[in-house]
Amino acid sequence: SIRSSLHKSSSSSPLRRSYSSQSAPERKVAILGAAGGIGQPLSLLMKLNPLVSSLSLYDIAGTPGVAADVSHINTRSEVVGYMGEENLGKALEGADVVIIPAGVPRKPGMTRDDLFNINAGIVKGLCTAIAKYCPHALVNMISNPVNSTVPIASEVFKKAGTYDPKRLFGVTTLDVVRAKTFYAGKAKVPVADVNVPVVGGHAGITILPLFSQATPQANNLSDEEIVALTKRTQDGGTEVVEAKAGKGSATLSMAYAGAIFADACLKGLNGVPDVVECSFVQSNVTKLPFFASKVRLGKNGVEEILGLGSLNDYEKQGLEALLPELESSIEKGIKFANQS
Ligand code: NAI
Repeated sequence: SIRSSLHKSSSSSPLRRSYSSQSAPERKVAILGAAGGIGQPLSLLMKLNPLVSSLSLYDIAGTPGVAADVSHINTRSEVVGYMGEENLGKALEGADVVIIPAGVPRKPGMTRDDLFNINAGIVKGLCTAIAKYCPHALVNMISNPVNSTVPIASEVFKKAGTYDPKRLFGVTTLDVVRAKTFYAGKAKVPVADVNVPVVGGHAGITILPLFSQATPQANNLSDEEIVALTKRTQDGGTEVVEAKAGKGSATLSMAYAGAIFADACLKGLNGVPDVVECSFVQSNVTKLPFFASKVRLGKNGVEEILGLGSLNDYEKQGLEALLPELESSIEKGIKFANQS
């Protein structure tokens, strides 16, 4: 059966690997919320990733169709769709990386925090299952508000006795993707060469792009232009929500960003050196328990938190300004996870 072949394929026997036609080790990736606006293009992009050997697509509805469709693509991974809570355990068993884009997205006029009431419960339920069925997986949290859903996940895992701060990630890659695109456009440098760290959190002013550390460094940008780039990066999600006019938030660019981050996690697991991405993780970089910054990924997840580097005065102000909001979002998540 498909199930037992999945089980065998997660064996870490070096002998089995040497007989494999693929040089990369076998890796199972599970996507929870795979039939959604993000989930579908993310499933497609993960099907294209040669580091994935098993792709597990879970949702409460719609996954048989998405899985059948994606499974016809002639790339490495085996694809299985799982629908309904009774199949969540099977979807998760043996997963190396779990990506969570489950939950409701914003409509015009909503903040990410307005999603809390629905998404907090969804995330709590999914993380309870992760603790039971794949407690060692790297968890990539996309569901908003990320500033609260990551703390919720940490509390659920603590209660289950499975919490490993090195394995829990809030996905802030879309903020980095946006900062790179907007910066390249203004600075007139080739976008493919651009790097911009984005730190803090993933909502409004908690998103802090560090353009003073952008490479290549552009000397042609005025202070006003840097302020405008910062605001556009912080409001990038809202720009998409308004353009979609009630039909959801970023899905295609988010799927791209999610695929980049999951690929970095897989490379880290596989021992590729110097894999660095920004992510919202448990951190000592500030006084807050969670913070997004550059992180080096390795065989156990977070290998090193790289910190902030040097900030200019504008960025220092932005950092001071974001801490109270980020703190209260973190506390809100922790409180929710510990009630009842
Ligand atoms: P969507 O509504 O199109 O898809 C969500 C999917 O989740 C649906 O298929 C739904 O059936 C599924 N779902 C609901 N409850 C579930 C459960 N208990 N278990 C499994 N699946 C469940 O929404 P979309 O646009 O895909 O957005 C998903 C989430 O991603 C939202 O919370 C959104 O705010 C967030 N997001 C995060 C970004 C980031 O940068 N981290 C960027 C854009 C969106």
